[in-house]
Amino acid sequence: MDKFVIEGGRSLRGTVAVAGSKNAVLALIPATLLAPGIYRIRRTPNLRDVWTMSRLMSTLGAHIELDTSGELFVDTRTIERFEAPYEHVKKMRASIYVLGPLLARYGQARVSLPGGCAFGPRPVDLHLKGMEKLGADIGIEHGYINARAERLRGAAIHLDVPSVGATVNILYAASLAEGETIITNAAMEPEVTALARMLVAMGARIEGIGTSTLRIEGVPALQPVPTVENIPDRIEAATFLIAAAMTRGAIRLTDVNPYHLGAVLDKLEEIGCTLDVDGTTIQLRCDGELEPTNITTAPYPGFPTDVQAQWAALMLTADGSSRVTDTIYPTRFGYVPELRRLGAEIEVVDNTAIVTGNARLLGATVMSSDLRASASLVLAGLVADGRTDVLRIYHLDRGYERMEERLRRLGAQIERVPTDEF
Ligand code: EPZ
Repeated sequence: MDKFVIEGGRSLRGTVAVAGSKNAVLALIPATLLAPGIYRIRRTPNLRDVWTMSRLMSTLGAHIELDTSGELFVDTRTIERFEAPYEHVKKMRASIYVLGPLLARYGQARVSLPGGCAFGPRPVDLHLKGMEKLGADIGIEHGYINARAERLRGAAIHLDVPSVGATVNILYAASLAEGETIITNAAMEPEVTALARMLVAMGARIEGIGTSTLRIEGVPALQPVPTVENIPDRIEAATFLIAAAMTRGAIRLTDVNPYHLGAVLDKLEEIGCTLDVDGTTIQLRCDGELEPTNITTAPYPGFPTDVQAQWAALMLTADGSSRVTDTIYPTRFGYVPELRRLGAEIEVVDNTAIVTGNARLLGATVMSSDLRASASLVLAGLVADGRTDVLRIYHLDRGYERMEERLRRLGAQIERVPTDEF
């Protein structure tokens, strides 16, 4: 078990390259089940979640390995099992992404129901509704989804909520279904668009990519695509920008896609940061007071729920009070009691955190509860006076590669320390 030990008070300065997107690559990997063959997915981040997905793929029979250049080799020519056991699903909800491909390509899938997570129930009803609309028989028993289908048939599917995961699973399945599928109120996240583009490269026929209405004409078979380029991680990029703003520093992000960050960049400018966007580079400088502002999360292209915890930490350093409202996960505030241990004044009312600015944070030991909460605590530790220990860093390692090394290179005083503190 590791913890981070942080000595606060340093401004972050320098250049950092943004890694490949966790949430995109978790959707690209299961797509390789749709067409047996050999694939190489470039810019795959070396994360716990990628490791979990790779182990799940191996239990199905795939051969998969990540090289030091970030290229993921995947060979799906020998898939012989169609079950995603609880041991993988409980670690990572995105394990359910094998449901659509196994059903579409092999006519069967047995996938453990994901549990909840630290920030609330994470239902999968829209995933199952989509599979049933496409003609699958779905049964649930002993905590497992049992799905079967001779041949999936295209259907009109409306999502009550623009679910990223449900859109991903329906895209996989519809690509090999007979006839046309129309998904309305589909998720438009860049990670969904990245998957749609990979499926098209494999021979899928998809229109409306990037919009909330996806039209898929099923094809009898797809072909493996030799190389796929993963997109940059917009949530990691936002996290670094917020860290620089909090510490009143100046950083340069490279290999990023600014178009994926519109809502966050707007808010950073609104509060007083100086931003310079040029191609795949974003420069941020913040050397004065920051104005408070309110944010409300929304499906893409709105403000991402995966950035609200980090934003709440940033607002602690603003000159006044602000409100952080999460409309997607109304209870995603597990980080608040931990920030309070650092001296933050934050009140959670319903799905809104009311953050008092000009906080005088004093270092303390705090505990991560989930991936983005962990990021929020690390950021707060960068500005707290004295030493902050952030426990259960395995949460952070799910979604950020070697975060302590990259923050140290930007000037932070931060170490990863093994500990038996849990
Ligand atoms: C994806 O999760 C991301 N994970 C999450 O990022 C992200 O927070 C979330 O999208 C929202 O943007 C991956 O991409 C691997 P949803 P997902 O289905 O697909 C409700 C991170 O930190 N819903 O879009 O599980 C659900 O309760 C992770 O990287 C249903 O009601 O999210 C939520 O309120 C955390 N029924 C809303 O939709 C369903 O069947 C959005 O969920 C599915 C979802």
